[in-house]
Amino acid sequence: MSEKPAPFKPAPWPRKLRSTHWYTGTSRDTIYHRGWMKNQGHPHDLFDGRPVIGIMNTWSELTPCNGHLRELAEKVKAGVWEAGGFPVEVPVFSASENTFRPTAMMYRNIAAMAVEEQMRGQPIDGAVLLVGCDKTTPSLMMGAASTDIPSIVVTGGPMLNGWFRGERVGSGTALWKFSEAVKAGEMSQEDFLEAEASMSRSSGTCNTMGTASTMASMAEALGMALSGNAAIPAVDSRRRMMAQLSGRRIVQMVKDDLKPSDIMTKQAFENAIRTNGAIGGSTNAVIHLLAIAGRVGVDLTLDDWDRCGRDVATIVNLMPSGKYLMEEFFYAGGLPVVLKRLGEAGKLHKDALTVSGETIWDEVKDVRNWNEDVIRPADKPLTEQGGMAILKGNLAPKGAVLKPSAASPHLLTHRGRAVVFEDIDDYKAKINDEDLDIDETCIMVLKYCGPKGYPGMAEVGNMGLPPKILRKGITDMVRISDARMSGTAYGTVILHTSPEAAAGGPLAVVRNGDMISVDVPKRSLVLEISDEELAARLAEWHPPQEQPGSGYAWLHHNHVGGADTGADLDFLKGCRGRDVGKDSH
Ligand code: FES
Repeated sequence: MSEKPAPFKPAPWPRKLRSTHWYTGTSRDTIYHRGWMKNQGHPHDLFDGRPVIGIMNTWSELTPCNGHLRELAEKVKAGVWEAGGFPVEVPVFSASENTFRPTAMMYRNIAAMAVEEQMRGQPIDGAVLLVGCDKTTPSLMMGAASTDIPSIVVTGGPMLNGWFRGERVGSGTALWKFSEAVKAGEMSQEDFLEAEASMSRSSGTCNTMGTASTMASMAEALGMALSGNAAIPAVDSRRRMMAQLSGRRIVQMVKDDLKPSDIMTKQAFENAIRTNGAIGGSTNAVIHLLAIAGRVGVDLTLDDWDRCGRDVATIVNLMPSGKYLMEEFFYAGGLPVVLKRLGEAGKLHKDALTVSGETIWDEVKDVRNWNEDVIRPADKPLTEQGGMAILKGNLAPKGAVLKPSAASPHLLTHRGRAVVFEDIDDYKAKINDEDLDIDETCIMVLKYCGPKGYPGMAEVGNMGLPPKILRKGITDMVRISDARMSGTAYGTVILHTSPEAAAGGPLAVVRNGDMISVDVPKRSLVLEISDEELAARLAEWHPPQEQPGSGYAWLHHNHVGGADTGADLDFLKGCRGRDVGKDSH
């Protein structure tokens, strides 16, 4: 366990807030700023130095998971008014996981940059980060961390359970299963279409423990959301209450100057990593937490993920690792129950501070578990190995990620012949070919799908198996790539291989027929060729792709970091603070 932070001391109140530089006084500038705001009907006494709260809203009709956030924003506003603040709703860049091409991940960093500048460049004393879909949560947390303006996360909440012919339908997880069943000839296209409607039966984010639910849980475990926020379904009235309570709370956080850097300490990140193991969370959390830590100045590495997660069992029985969905997690007591279990097991920094001003342990110590099949007791975990396994070796000198709870135990130690797909198009062209030279003992290798390669690091690492193998009833094989995988997906899938192929990593020079050995207990990933042969192949390598010449694609390609450090843009790392430097006029 790392060193204890100094206790938080609230700032004196009353004092002048940053918004007073825009709104207080009789100078030409303040009249200019204030006067224009008055065209919305705001009376003069609202500009009396009270906290101005920006409700940073990722609502968009093209981010359907966040489609209900304007309604929630009204509840946040009510809370801010009640506590004596001045709420202003601010639309921010929204990247939907299910719509944005080539992948929403390519835009996480531009969204983070945009919200950072919106927070700093405008008269905002505190922020409510209104988020939901996968990338919206980390991008706003990254932006807030870089300004260090007091901020609180409110997520939109998951959709209600999906049901199809008596079975639970989990977002994403069911899609992967049904599409493989169609390929194997076990499900008709008509039934597949009928199942589609049952997958998304209410507003909200994916109802599995996918990336959205994982990141909502990470925000809560980091202390950046009020206790209990993560699991409340989007359409439950308690979601709206949570929004209103968060609106009230941010006003006091501004008065106390309770900042992201006071909350997101190394201890808080260690709590989040252990929580991820206990909930069977998404591999995407690895990248996002590394990036958030980089913004707030916490030294977090892939080794921390392995060290902290190694002895954490998964106790939350949710898809894709288990059986239930977020609605049932909420009824069982949600994340506070999991945090209490971690605390009882000595795996929680109990004195980590949260947005409530209380410690995380104070928030959870008295909660109860209402369903021990959904949140399992310590002696009946879903799987003993919950944390992420970080594999290293000559194929991944900077590391690769595997989620043991989503993998097949018999494949965790495996040696196989590489079947190489040079890029995603090559994979698509060959995978359904009945003549493809592959059997279930082979290892599928996919290149050029990392942060620079795809570009943006798409969720294609859980490549579907060849139909001829699926028809044998085989549902898992070892797969290796520099891609990500949806948090709703599963399988023995080695992801985020670093350095990526497009950056000249060893993955780029794997050839068909090479032997690869994977040993998860020993954390190793080895391409069985000599050092000399590997060096010779790397010396011959050159980037096969045309590089983008302009626009955001150029910026991304030239400045994005490796997955092993969070895939942030190099010039965005770190906290740049809240000072603008100059007045506008
Ligand atoms: Fe938006 Fe899953 S695709 S939450």
